[in-house]
Amino acid sequence: MQGSSIFKRSVVSKGPSETLRIGRALGRSCRAGDVLALEGDLGSGKTLFVQGLALGLKIARPGEVRSPTFSLIHEYRGRLPLCHADLYRLKSAETLHLGLEEYWGTGRWVTAVEWADRAQKFLPKTSLRVKFETLSPMRRRIDFSGPPEWKKKLPK
Ligand SMILES: Nc1ncnc2c1ncn2[C@@H]1O[C@H](COP(=O)(O)OP(=O)(O)O)[C@@H](O)[C@H]1O
Ligand SMILES: [Mg+2]
Repeated sequence: MQGSSIFKRSVVSKGPSETLRIGRALGRSCRAGDVLALEGDLGSGKTLFVQGLALGLKIARPGEVRSPTFSLIHEYRGRLPLCHADLYRLKSAETLHLGLEEYWGTGRWVTAVEWADRAQKFLPKTSLRVKFETLSPMRRRIDFSGPPEWKKKLPK
């Protein structure tokens, strides 16, 4: 059964530094070609998580990682190159024209996509889905799901 081969894990982050730490741990174990599909409302922690990812990927100035709202895609150089996309302002159909698949197609990048639900149709099946939910001003529920290969890359 396909459903049983999907790996799932949930954590509750109790503050910004914990979300940063979770992202960093994942960034440390990411491999070239990995795609992270981030979902959740505004302010739920997606960009902060990508800053953590950037730390783990040894990107020189992870503090510069912001939501690429105007340019849609930002590129950063690190242990592995990071592509950070934000589809907030796009309609689902428009995301097809971004050329995002060229990032994971090369197998060289780590790609993190905010508002990934807008690109659901063409994101690779191997993506890790990371869903953020605001529980209270400081608490965020983070639901990870994806193929079982991701299990060993996630922090305990
Ligand atoms: N546990 C938490 N995890 C992540 N962000 C948190 C947490 N608690 C409070 N915050 C705050 O929520 C905001 C998240 O912003 P951001 O990462 O830009 O969200 P998004 O990209 O989802 O819109 C930040 O201001 C951050 O300080
Ligand atoms: Mg954001």
